Amino acid sequence: MCGIVGIISTRPVSARLLEGLKRLEYRGYDSAGIAVFNGQGIKRCRAAGKIVNLQSALQESPIEGTCGIAHTRWATHGRPTRTNAHPHQTSQVAIVHNGIIENHKALREELIDQGHVFATQTDSEVIAHLIQHHLDKGLGETDAFQASIDKLEGAYAVAALIGTHSQTLYAARHGSPLVIGFGTDEMFVGSDAFALAPFTQKVLYLEEGDSAIVNIDNVTIKDKAGAPVTRDILTAKISAVMAEKGNYRHFMEKEIHEQPESLARTVAAYIDPDTHLPLLDDAGPLLQNADRLVAIACGTAFYAASVAKYWFEQYADIHVETDIASEFRYRHPALAKNGTALFISQSGETADTLAALRYCKRAGLGTIGIVNAPESSIARETNTNLHTLAGPEIGVASTKAFTAQLAVLALGAIGSAHLRKTISDDEAKAHIEALEHLPTLCKAALETEQQCASIAPTLAQASQTLFLGRGAYFPLALEGALKLKEVTYLHAEGYAAGELKHGPIALIEEGTPVVIIAPNDALIEKTISNVEEIAARGAHVIAITDKACASHFEGQARHTICLPDLPGLTGPIISAIPLQFLAYYTALKRGTNMDQPRNLAKSVTVE
Ligand code: AGP
Repeated sequence: MCGIVGIISTRPVSARLLEGLKRLEYRGYDSAGIAVFNGQGIKRCRAAGKIVNLQSALQESPIEGTCGIAHTRWATHGRPTRTNAHPHQTSQVAIVHNGIIENHKALREELIDQGHVFATQTDSEVIAHLIQHHLDKGLGETDAFQASIDKLEGAYAVAALIGTHSQTLYAARHGSPLVIGFGTDEMFVGSDAFALAPFTQKVLYLEEGDSAIVNIDNVTIKDKAGAPVTRDILTAKISAVMAEKGNYRHFMEKEIHEQPESLARTVAAYIDPDTHLPLLDDAGPLLQNADRLVAIACGTAFYAASVAKYWFEQYADIHVETDIASEFRYRHPALAKNGTALFISQSGETADTLAALRYCKRAGLGTIGIVNAPESSIARETNTNLHTLAGPEIGVASTKAFTAQLAVLALGAIGSAHLRKTISDDEAKAHIEALEHLPTLCKAALETEQQCASIAPTLAQASQTLFLGRGAYFPLALEGALKLKEVTYLHAEGYAAGELKHGPIALIEEGTPVVIIAPNDALIEKTISNVEEIAARGAHVIAITDKACASHFEGQARHTICLPDLPGLTGPIISAIPLQFLAYYTALKRGTNMDQPRNLAKSVTVE
């Protein structure tokens, strides 16, 4: 994960390096640091913890220069201490790195044998020593940088300061993204265009294997074969405005409340206002003509994919495989010759999902991105996209992006069913009409907030919580458990309600909270039987249901969270909202930082 910024300018850069870092904090917040050329050599400042700690350290001991690099870390190798914070430095080199150097042990041993002394437990420090080693052997700065990059195995985006009075930034990428920004009398390097948005919109994305020498008014790029190349300079359409919490206490709370608008925006983008039929553009033929779909994602996005499987199979009569990207990319999957692959990702930068996309492209599949960051790597590399229009999601726990993913997938399933003629025009229109009600239904679901807040103390003091659902509500149970785990640090598990008797029912004892997600559907009677079984064993049942079914839970559930009636495919989308509130209010009760939970990062750019 980790975020990188570099600036070379005629003006001092430290404050702006810090500003860029704050925009990258979603990538990691274990430690942070900056290094600048200050006229006498490279000076650095680092701090453990969030960027605000680095800011305080810089206030106490300012460092300034017109060329510098900065980093916010998500620890992979070595604990998140100040010592392990980037930039890593030798006498003439400072580097920042995002990724994992897989051959770092072998390189470190070789360098130690040659007298290098390492200060950290990180894999990244080896890059600084390698460059120093090549300088010591007499290579010039550019050659020393390139010779070092050529020795790295694994994934990296690297920015480096080399020399003593240099006015050059060195950069390279392989497996981790890196952007070059063009200003007036200044140039930038960043992990993404969002980091550079306050400084410039003119950007160039380095391609796999590229290395770059960035001077104050130009950049020279070589491709992986070492040949000089030019890359297109684009205008990034990313706002420089940082999302604010407004009147909310936390981003998670704000983003839960933004769902009526984010759903309205997303649904409107994919419905033809004249025909009231789905509008899928280039994705239409890929969904219509495929023999099989594979939907690939990680975490919450994977649960969105898992809901979609139920929808595509039921309505479009197409076989859908779902896969966790980190499993898919290594398991040699048998892929349909005429298949289409869907990649679902909020950030569009998740390393495993991106690797799975590249795998599918090599295998000749059509590829569709369902991505919330339109300029991300996944969005740029897929054949076409059905973007989610949730707007920037800052809280690490995905909320509004998840419901927007579900909305797009619902429209995709109905659109594909209509194109494949497995549903009639009238059926398609009825489904679309139901989906058009999502913003209103969502507003009604937000009214469950206080009830969820009143249930949170029960979850906060329990040692575990189970989440159960059947059919398309099974992935919702998994999502409810993930949300609770990641923001409260409490143990939770999601199960298919029908699996209870095959093991998990043994976990239930007097007072165990069990959240059952059961709005009206074809399986409701079966789910109610499951509730009776767990209530008889002392479970503290919390039912998330709708008006049509609320009475079924009387006498069994201690709490019935009643949603409005949920037509068509709206049920799993709207049921997510009380799950989000339960997690949020339980975190609030426990005093955890739900916007930046420990050990997590918003964008998982390493595998
Ligand atoms: C969700 O709350 C997560 N923190 C996480 O599981 C996330 O959904 C996953 O890392 C995938 O991220 P992406 O959507 O950016 O690809």
